[in-house]
Amino acid sequence: MSTKLKLGIFGFGCVGQGLHQVLSQSSGFKTDIVKVCVKDRAKKRTLDPSLFTFDKNEILNNPEINVVVELIDDAEEAYHIVKYALQQGKHVVTANKKMLANHLYELTELQQKHNVSLLYEASACGSIPIIRTLEEYYDNELLYSVSGIFNGTSNFILTKTIFENLSYADALKKAQDLGFAESDPTNDVEGYDAKFKAVILAAHAFGLFAKQEEVFNFGINTIAIDDIRYAKEKGKKIKLVPTIKKLDKNNVAAFVVPQLINSENYLFNVENEYNGVIVEGAFSDKQFLFGKGAGGNPTGSAVLSDISALSYGYRYEYKKFKQNKDIKLNNNILIDIYLRYNTADDLNKIKFESVNEKYSSGNYNYVIGRINLKQLIANRDYIQKENLFFARVGEEIGIVGAKENVNVEEKELVLG
Ligand code: HSE
Repeated sequence: MSTKLKLGIFGFGCVGQGLHQVLSQSSGFKTDIVKVCVKDRAKKRTLDPSLFTFDKNEILNNPEINVVVELIDDAEEAYHIVKYALQQGKHVVTANKKMLANHLYELTELQQKHNVSLLYEASACGSIPIIRTLEEYYDNELLYSVSGIFNGTSNFILTKTIFENLSYADALKKAQDLGFAESDPTNDVEGYDAKFKAVILAAHAFGLFAKQEEVFNFGINTIAIDDIRYAKEKGKKIKLVPTIKKLDKNNVAAFVVPQLINSENYLFNVENEYNGVIVEGAFSDKQFLFGKGAGGNPTGSAVLSDISALSYGYRYEYKKFKQNKDIKLNNNILIDIYLRYNTADDLNKIKFESVNEKYSSGNYNYVIGRINLKQLIANRDYIQKENLFFARVGEEIGIVGAKENVNVEEKELVLG
């Protein structure tokens, strides 16, 4: 893109202000902010009032503006803004993971059709440059898996409740005050936000455009003191871990569940609002990216990087999708979990394939065994309602019907 970038920004909350700050302090890159569209008329703002508008058309229908930066909270409203902007031939930079997880494929087609760019590095893992890394650096790598900690708020709560003995409610309040949490923090603590990010990364890592409703997520909100004590006794920590893993040539597993991890795991020391991404590939082996996953400036820096990439005409090419369009999500898999339950009825309902360990003492009961992910999907509401908790143990994933369990390393890529 040789013409000067003229920005129209939607939203001036935590990320919008962070972007303004990084833009004004960045010495190498200059751009013009033409208008900022905001909702709240009463709010006092630090910038020149003439910069602000309450009418979205002042940006969307302004021919001078060639880049729309979408940083609002409402995913549905964001979708209409982004869609319209692309149709008007404007480039779009967005941080809205929920909107992307809901509409990614359609929006990629629109950017193609209108010959514009849609960039969204800030939507997944804040300041960690994971999307462009998957898209460019690993474009020809045979990737096995992408996993990590993708949600700052839930990680912040885990850190504060376990190490600083803050109550769950106080830790969440703190995350909200610091601007990490979603306006509806259910998205953070129940694993939805991490799932949206996993859906986005799956498209770039494996060419999988999954329906977000079909990707299983379970969070940390039913965790109890017994679970934390169990983890501590075993020298482990509980983290909320999204996993996207290639099972064979055309099958990918993707889910977000709490996981018991030991001190050798790269995620063990990822605390507070930090995120970490582990990428495993055939040639590169295991790599770990670490950085702040939430907050105005870290997220603003990812938005800045996208705006800067527009200045040299950058566009995602979805290379993995072009390499294999038959890739699909497979939930018919076996994983190993620790499940804290209350009564025998719970275990009659949530059926394990095999049980390795059972423990009961007073009101604390747990079982460790192998379960089909579909059992967890079917019983998600029940587990929530009854305040049960489960966490994955170990990394192995079995495919139902396969002769052996898959550790993809040795297998799929031979097939590929
Ligand atoms: N609520 C999100 C998080 C913000 O805590 O990770 C960044 O996407």
